[in-house]
Amino acid sequence: MCGIIVRAGVGDALGELLTGLRNLEYRGYDSAGVALRRNDGEIVVCKREGETDALEADLDSDRLSGSVGIGHTRWSTHGAPSDANAHPHTDGSNRVAVVHNGIIRNYETLRRELRDRGHEFTSETDTEVIPHLVADALDAGIDPETAFRSAIDRIEGSYAIAMVVDGREEVYATRRGSPLVLGVGETANYLASDVPAFLEFTDRVVYLEDDDVVVVDAEGYQISDVAGDPIERTVETVDWDAGDARKGVYNHFMRKEIDEQPVSLRQTINGRIEGGKSVLSEFPQGSLADVDEVIFVACGTSYHAGMYGCTLLRRRGIPATAVPANEFAHEPMPVTDRTLVIAVTQSGETADTLASLRAANSSPARTLAVTNVVGSTAAREANDALFIRAGPEIGVAATKTFSSQVAAIALLADRLEDDGAGQSAGWSTAEETDRSADQIDRSVSTTATKNREGANGRTGGGDRAENDGQTAYDNGDVSELRALPDHVETVVGDGNAARLATQYADADSYFFIGRGVGYPVALEGALKFKEITYEHAEGFAAGELKHGPLALVTPATVVVAIFTGRNDERTLHNIREAQSRGAPVIGIGPESATDVREKVDEYLSYPDVGPNLAGILANVHLQLLAYHAAEIRDRAIDKPRNLAKSVTVE
Ligand code: G6P
Repeated sequence: MCGIIVRAGVGDALGELLTGLRNLEYRGYDSAGVALRRNDGEIVVCKREGETDALEADLDSDRLSGSVGIGHTRWSTHGAPSDANAHPHTDGSNRVAVVHNGIIRNYETLRRELRDRGHEFTSETDTEVIPHLVADALDAGIDPETAFRSAIDRIEGSYAIAMVVDGREEVYATRRGSPLVLGVGETANYLASDVPAFLEFTDRVVYLEDDDVVVVDAEGYQISDVAGDPIERTVETVDWDAGDARKGVYNHFMRKEIDEQPVSLRQTINGRIEGGKSVLSEFPQGSLADVDEVIFVACGTSYHAGMYGCTLLRRRGIPATAVPANEFAHEPMPVTDRTLVIAVTQSGETADTLASLRAANSSPARTLAVTNVVGSTAAREANDALFIRAGPEIGVAATKTFSSQVAAIALLADRLEDDGAGQSAGWSTAEETDRSADQIDRSVSTTATKNREGANGRTGGGDRAENDGQTAYDNGDVSELRALPDHVETVVGDGNAARLATQYADADSYFFIGRGVGYPVALEGALKFKEITYEHAEGFAAGELKHGPLALVTPATVVVAIFTGRNDERTLHNIREAQSRGAPVIGIGPESATDVREKVDEYLSYPDVGPNLAGILANVHLQLLAYHAAEIRDRAIDKPRNLAKSVTVE
């Protein structure tokens, strides 16, 4: 939420600032603004409600010429979207201009205090206190850097802040709890909330730490700590390609990112599978042996990936739960030093997820971040990090990162099982079967093998034998992941989701149901659908439909049912309940599942794959269904109303 871009270099800054703002719009698009330091030393500000295009349409580029500038794209927290609340904010006389991402908790106190001293405020934002505090210090004869530090000393909360001062060529910036990355270029240096903002100009970055103060100009940068002592930070080269962060021939980033999934999945698994086993350089053999249970903490789509991960782990006999990050952070959650808390987060900057990670870090539990962003706060604060390597994702609705998160967790599940995680506590499973305790033998792999050969008459891939009373933990085979990118390619090329989006465009509500890994996929399908179509969409565990939601089912309710080749018979019962109330049912399931195909009204198929990974393929159909449904309705697909890709406030 909110994106910051700073550019200090040779030549005009405006064009690069606007590019940076466009690249950051996924963080917020309620308003946009820039402040430039003109070559005569004066600060000029231009800001507008709406997206960067609205700002650009109003720009007087002659007035806004200068080689140093700051820019901001906003996701409103304090104060409605408006010109007045747009950043940059100034001290009233344009001596100081500031952009800010985050929340200043004590702004009301500071505002009262400044008002008493004669300061006038023109916005409802928390940010505006900062330029006024700095101006006060400048009035007292203090130099800009010290004035900046003294203002930062007074504020409480989470922030990334950048400031320009008239007559000075430097930009002053700091962060605490909100992201800020330095880009080191040939002819200019940059600061931004995220790397894609300046990736077209440089791929050399410095990930700043909390409380670093950085002073940037055209020549270089200095980083120092709170006390003003210099700090050395490593310059790293990011391996993201600038083209990945551009829309290219696509109308929307979301569609581009759906199509990119075969490539991003290959990147996720590349070099991580050997001889049917997962090999993670982050976790050498034995390093996970002391894990008794796993708790996933995450938000939004990442939470659904965590739920999916739970099922994968439990199928390997490893106890796992998924908890919404904000709940984990603020409700007592028993853990031991044998609990592994996994924060799943694309950006690595979601405030709720970071709060849960910090709660876990202050407990005996061990922590791991599964994230897309190297250098992100989650990656740095967790005990370990596992990178999903999906490449930059710009569309607000997460797509390719979900697939890569699940694939990375599938690899991790294999490593955990190999290390014997979850075994020492002597857990047993609760499931409606007639097996005896000695049949719950994790060493029984013959059952899984048998199933892969087709014991359930259709799909393979480590399912549990359900019909013959034999059971074993499903220890799958991660080699299956190798075929996944090709399978995703097949689904991406299937035009049927587009057809069904049109066919059912007039429905009142869209319900998504599934079981096993199909349950989080149902939730994810509903989330994607509501996020970008603004239609009423809900996801349920298939068995729950009859416990309440069925009261809402009418012929104008479309029920989308996910079949994974496991317990499908039970889901067929559930769809009958909906069909008998007149609801049309779209089934999503394996190609060869003729029994399912015959019973649903429409069928979206994916190549046969074991039930552990089937959910990833079903989810690609759901992404396409949501995308096309939003396209028909002419929605702002990449920037849905009220949402931001990275929510950095709790
Ligand atoms: C926001 C986005 C969601 C995303 C969630 C978690 O709410 O709109 O699409 O899933 O944050 O983001 P993360 O970066 O932690 O995965």
